[in-house]
Amino acid sequence: MHHFQYKGNELYAEEVAVKDIVASVGSPVYIYSHATLERHYTAMDEAFASVPHTICYSMKANSNLAVLKTFFNQGGGVDIVSGGELFRALSAGVDPKKVVYSGVGKKDDEIEYALNTGILLFNVESEEELDRIDQVAGRLGKKAGIAIRVNPDVDPETHPYITTGLKKAKFGINIERSLEQYKRAAKMANLEIIGVDCHIGSQLTKVAPFIDTIKKLKRLIEGLKEAGITLQYFDLGGGLGITYSDEAPPLPAEYGTAIVAETKNMGLHLLFEPGRNLVGNAGIMVAKCLYTKKGDEKNFVIVDAAMNDLARPSLYGSYHGVQAVRKDQQETIVADIVGPICESGDFLAKDREMPAFKQDDLIAFMSAGAYGFTMSSNYNSRPRAAEVMVKGDSFFVVREREKVEDLVRGEKLPSFL
Ligand code: LLP
Repeated sequence: MHHFQYKGNELYAEEVAVKDIVASVGSPVYIYSHATLERHYTAMDEAFASVPHTICYSMKANSNLAVLKTFFNQGGGVDIVSGGELFRALSAGVDPKKVVYSGVGKKDDEIEYALNTGILLFNVESEEELDRIDQVAGRLGKKAGIAIRVNPDVDPETHPYITTGLKKAKFGINIERSLEQYKRAAKMANLEIIGVDCHIGSQLTKVAPFIDTIKKLKRLIEGLKEAGITLQYFDLGGGLGITYSDEAPPLPAEYGTAIVAETKNMGLHLLFEPGRNLVGNAGIMVAKCLYTKKGDEKNFVIVDAAMNDLARPSLYGSYHGVQAVRKDQQETIVADIVGPICESGDFLAKDREMPAFKQDDLIAFMSAGAYGFTMSSNYNSRPRAAEVMVKGDSFFVVREREKVEDLVRGEKLPSFL
């Protein structure tokens, strides 16, 4: 459930008419519902209320400071994958002890930054990374809390680009090699082994792959115990899917019940890294129709947002619902919604039945809160969109629309020109 609903013919974000936001902020614009964000966090948190747990929001999904602060106010932490994300999280006031750091390519300066910040743990993704974190921690005279990201070789049955837990993936350390790497880590002076981690993929619509993963990791944890290595944290990663069109993923409560049942005897503090599930349906992107065009074989609706604003359709062929901000058009057409970018891959919807949009109509792209703005770029020298958060009957610009001056910030002409 989310708070983007019609009142009469007008689409509202909570108590604010979307058209009023566009009138003031312009388009394209991302709009987030604060009540929906809180509700999604609460649903996830309550699903694990019976066991010790921390929700480390995977901020790559949406790293706007206002979104982060919303979750931190509710007690959440973050899953980060770069020094830049750590900076953002600290800027929004995260408790460092609720930060987990994942990613296959951590750099020395990022490791140092994280150690100086005092994060909870590093999710270590390779044998060489273990050595590197040990060295950097030694240099700083610190102990680094670590978990090994174990690649369990489980198929999450999702899009290949967002499948991460199969053997052929670049992520984590293969489960067969994990025990030996834990034993090696146990001998390193500057590491403190505190957990085990995994993340098998994104947009999962079933619980079974999570449960298969837990079963495999339990065997590893037994092996660790025999080797005298005890853990405090079990990090199951993120990945719980959402409804974009007709998917029916388990609700957080069902996901929680199944996972609690499978993990409760482990006696470990659970960590979760949900991204999409918390923010995906808490955001929409709104664009304006610039032109319509009848091709010989196709109809096109040309809007002022493009693949640089919302990359998912171009990149993965993803579906985002298309809705009229004002629902007064009865007639429908089958069309592609495309942006101004000079690439045929620049589309937001393809061969879709939709209202017969006309010039200046506002169009909402639904479920755009996750991997929307964060994956946007300046391609074709397009300033990035504004971001707005709605709370009740008020709205707040939480990121200003970029200006053309922002496009050349940092660029310098060499003296020979
Ligand atoms: N933890 C780790 C280590 C991850 O790599 C990810 C996502 C998450 C947690 C959060 O996964 P979620 O709960 O959001 O499924 N750009 C793609 C999705 C890429 C996911 C990358 N990793 C998309 O737009 O669908």
